Amino acid sequence: MSVKVFDTKEVQDLLKAAANLGSQDGNPRAKQIVQRLLGDLFKAIDELDMTPDEIWAGVHYFNKLGQDGEAALLAAGLGLEKYLDIRMDAADREADINGSTPRTIEGPLYVAGAPVREGVSKIDLDPDAHSGPLVIHGTVTGPDGKPVADAVVECWHANSKGFYSHFDPTGAQSEFNLRGAVKTGADGKYEFRTLMPVGYGCPPHGATQQLLNVLARHGNRPAHVHFFVITDKYRKLTTQINIEGDPLIWDDFAYATREDLIPHVVEKNGGTALGMKADPYKDIEFNFELTPLVQGKDNQLVNRLRASAPT
Ligand code: DHB
Ligand code: FE
Repeated sequence: MSVKVFDTKEVQDLLKAAANLGSQDGNPRAKQIVQRLLGDLFKAIDELDMTPDEIWAGVHYFNKLGQDGEAALLAAGLGLEKYLDIRMDAADREADINGSTPRTIEGPLYVAGAPVREGVSKIDLDPDAHSGPLVIHGTVTGPDGKPVADAVVECWHANSKGFYSHFDPTGAQSEFNLRGAVKTGADGKYEFRTLMPVGYGCPPHGATQQLLNVLARHGNRPAHVHFFVITDKYRKLTTQINIEGDPLIWDDFAYATREDLIPHVVEKNGGTALGMKADPYKDIEFNFELTPLVQGKDNQLVNRLRASAPT
């Protein structure tokens, strides 16, 4: 069946009716987007001659995606979240904002409400026999290179099984394990004392992995640590670092790796004196350089539904 009906009046009228373009009511932006996306879908069905079986497989896939609570996971895995970063990077270049710490995706596993401490925070609340101590520290500066006081550096990462607290399918972690926030002093410095993360993998029976399997793609990320850096003087930074040496660094299913986000991991001693579980520990220095507000505003602040938990 290689019929082409998209350009017929019947189909164009159907699209307009579905988006309710004939009415002044409703949200004009939502109507515009629905008409466009539905139109692009109708066109693709025509051009690729998609079968009813394929369409219903897709419709029921959305049901499973919702039941599994994985829509935001899939958005990362299909590069949609990376695409938003590419667009924000391009907007920055156009506005002549260059040279700061690169952004990269937030991902779906942030939880708001982690306790904020001054300067240093030890965030490994639960014991983890399979993971060694890690210190991540550095300085927050503005575009002028000067330290930023009262910036909040927030961090979250997985445990030795690649699981995040709050989303851990084993239920083994306490609420803010491996999540924390530090407020900088006049020197702009922050430090997290924690345990080495292991790369995350999509739930093996979830909708995201199901689609990735069809594409012959894996659903794994290299070991990484997420950050927000927030101050009222500069724009919010959303980024991550990868753990140097992870074999998946350039094979991340969520496309978050960037050249400047792979700091060196240095072996050090003296962990016991820092309150860590062993004396030898891994040390990562990572400095954040923030970008200026645009006309006094953070013009790229992203609002999205985020999990939260009481502290
Ligand atoms: C996903 C998981 C992550 O830990 C992350 O940082 C980004 C995306 C995901 O499951 O899609
Ligand atoms: Fe992550």
